[in-house]
Amino acid sequence: VRLNRYLAACGVCSRRAADAFIVAGRVRVDGRIVRELGRQVSDGARVEFDHVAIQPPRGKTYLVLHKPFGVVTTMRDPQGRPTVRDLLPRGAPRVVPVGRLDYDTSGVLLLTDDGDLANHLLHPRYGVEKTYRALIDGRLTEGDRHALRCGMDLGDCRTQPARIRVLQARGDRSLVELTVREGKRRQVRRMFAALGHCVRRLERVRFGPILLDELEPGKTRSLSKRELESLRRIGSERGIRRHFSNPTPLR
Ligand code: URA
Repeated sequence: VRLNRYLAACGVCSRRAADAFIVAGRVRVDGRIVRELGRQVSDGARVEFDHVAIQPPRGKTYLVLHKPFGVVTTMRDPQGRPTVRDLLPRGAPRVVPVGRLDYDTSGVLLLTDDGDLANHLLHPRYGVEKTYRALIDGRLTEGDRHALRCGMDLGDCRTQPARIRVLQARGDRSLVELTVREGKRRQVRRMFAALGHCVRRLERVRFGPILLDELEPGKTRSLSKRELESLRRIGSERGIRRHFSNPTPLR
């Protein structure tokens, strides 16, 4: 990292001010004054400003939790129910959930202390895809599928087109996968209820590039580098252009 960027990342000053401080000889790296503006700082270097050691910036934390049923997606619950905080590793930084899952929904939940990324991912403009696996009463008709795919009126709002896949239909129950790009209150349950299908079990199996996979209920893992890069791309300008100039049809 360039020295001016490093100082800015540590919260010492802006990059421009850092350049002035460097030229003025107020910054030392490993005990030596550095006046060279392009100077790179490697991991573990000891950087001082006016003889005070600078604390290296702490990286952000990105955790994936398999939220079980019967847990609220908040850090505190006035009613004393189990919260997602109870499931975080001991000593974890102060992360917050990115969006929410209902008390009676299980599945992938991202938690982070990176507020910028969280805000981006929750912004409707980015339309992060979420896939839910739902066990519903009855079987979907062609009309039901059409309604889910085209968007439906839920009374207080209209849903955007969704993708639907029937995984199993046995007896009077069906297991289906629904992919949506919104996060309206109890959206999936309300969509199926509007078609006369009660949801018996609901699990989110994907949030953007993050898959639930083998993660056990109640367990957390760190986001992989690849997943983080994909999430950042969603939240970047490139992500917006890709989404809007070439939208993937949700069919
Ligand atoms: N839709 C729902 O109905 N519930 C959730 O928790 C998430 C999506």
